Amino acid sequence: MKEEIIKKINKLKKEKNAVILAHCYQNVEIDEVADYVGDSLYLSRKAAETDADIIVFAGVYFMAETAKILSPDKKVLLPRLESGCLMADMINVEDLRKFKQSHPNIPVVCYVNSLAEVKAESDVCCTSSNAVQVVKSLSSDKVLFVPDKYLGSYVGAQVPEKEVIPFMGYCPTHLRIKPEDILEKKELYPEAEVLAHPESHAEVLKLSDYVGSTSGIMNRAKESSAKTFIIATEIGVVERLERDLKDKKFILASEKAVCQNMKWNTLEDILISLEKEEPEITVDKEIANKALSSIEKMVKIG
Ligand code: 13P
Ligand code: SF4
Repeated sequence: MKEEIIKKINKLKKEKNAVILAHCYQNVEIDEVADYVGDSLYLSRKAAETDADIIVFAGVYFMAETAKILSPDKKVLLPRLESGCLMADMINVEDLRKFKQSHPNIPVVCYVNSLAEVKAESDVCCTSSNAVQVVKSLSSDKVLFVPDKYLGSYVGAQVPEKEVIPFMGYCPTHLRIKPEDILEKKELYPEAEVLAHPESHAEVLKLSDYVGSTSGIMNRAKESSAKTFIIATEIGVVERLERDLKDKKFILASEKAVCQNMKWNTLEDILISLEKEEPEITVDKEIANKALSSIEKMVKIG
């Protein structure tokens, strides 16, 4: 049954000149049909580069929307439309305007986990893998950072020469990882390296040996000489590491680190979406053009 679905998806991909981009928090079976699997910066780059006619985005809404903005002439499909990002929904354009009014004349760095209208109202986008570089690249000594308070604070600590003023959004999945979880796992596995996503709580980051994006964490685990790792991010990363690096041991920092919105997609959903060519993601032209300039600056930076 599963093999049948995979065959059908691969056939349709060829017939329709479609490409499947999958985030590494997706159900791991999605990788069996994906052309590219990685973090949001990597997938944005792939969406911008592809010459496919259809992009099927196995990820959350803002990722598909970003792909559409980067490739407006392509059909972008998000197989399960309910796949939103809770953090991205914590700020809308009115909130951002108020935030800017209370801190006038300060450039806005917008985490890619945000709606197109918010990107359109910002100066430059960033992802978790280039946020520090993006903030450093600005000439202003003050920067507004939306929507993630935790990534914003982490970046502020990495760039002490600038004042980073974060908005108050957060990722519920990462905040479910508590410092006590790390301490408990460290006691059980004292030789383990702790690898964390910067959306995590500052106390969790303090206890970590490495902080980086989802792809960054996976690369670090590959390259490190350590044999055991405590992983402070979503469970999908651990599942992929266990599949790819069988000689190493991976401990999920908390069983609660599951992003439900990343888990709706099944292979069957991908197949139905490709067959019907829906749900299609569209973005208002004026908003898309403004957002594009913020996203393009990001894609060019590291
Ligand atoms: P990455 O940019 O590291 O892929 O993270 C995206 C995300 O949603 C993390 O919660
Ligand atoms: Fe959004 Fe958090 Fe899920 Fe990432 S893990 S998609 S930030 S809710």
